Amino acid sequence: MIRGMEEKDLERICELEEELFPADPWQKHNFLYELNENPYARLSVFEENGRIAGYADLWIMFEQAQIANLAVAGDCQGRGIGRELMNHCLKTAEEAGCEVISLEVRVSNARAISLYEKCGFIRAAVRKGYYENGEDADLMIRPLGGNQYDNAAGN
Ligand SMILES: CC(C)(COP(=O)(O)OP(=O)(O)OC[C@H]1O[C@@H](n2cnc3c(N)ncnc32)[C@H](O)[C@@H]1OP(=O)(O)O)[C@@H](O)C(=O)NCCC(=O)NCCS
Repeated sequence: MIRGMEEKDLERICELEEELFPADPWQKHNFLYELNENPYARLSVFEENGRIAGYADLWIMFEQAQIANLAVAGDCQGRGIGRELMNHCLKTAEEAGCEVISLEVRVSNARAISLYEKCGFIRAAVRKGYYENGEDADLMIRPLGGNQYDNAAGN
């Protein structure tokens, strides 16, 4: 089940950040800012048997949306949870009237890039040295409107 993220979820989510993004994990204060202060952020979690298996942070900024964070616990990957979270973000952005959605992803993150391409994103540009270790990011974008998120997800 996908539901809104709450402060009580942050201990588990911060553990997952350390596991999934060891080079640059978001800290609790980053999530608190997103939850309580960022007016553009919509945070959601995928919960399974009372345990958080994944989470996403979507920014809705007028006609543009951005995926700021998306992750699935290592022992829950490969079961469609990332795709479900992405479809939830696409639907939320589309219902908010956004025309385009974008994200940045490490060029080495083949698994995430594969998911994003299957969800209809295309590589639009490379951001050189975007990450702290100097790695480049792919800027990926996807138009919104109509039922493209359903088509792209093969539903
Ligand atoms: C990227 C990530 C969110 C994908 O979530 P997931 O729940 O494992 O993905 P899904 O099971 O929904 O799979 C969707 C697609 O992802 C890709 N994928 C998933 N597991 C994969 C694997 N082991 N190898 C290659 N591609 C894989 C495939 O394209 C898959 O499509 P398919 O099911 O038609 O084959 C997850 O691997 C993750 O959290 N990784 C660590 C954090 C991260 O890199 N986040 C993204 C930052 S931009």
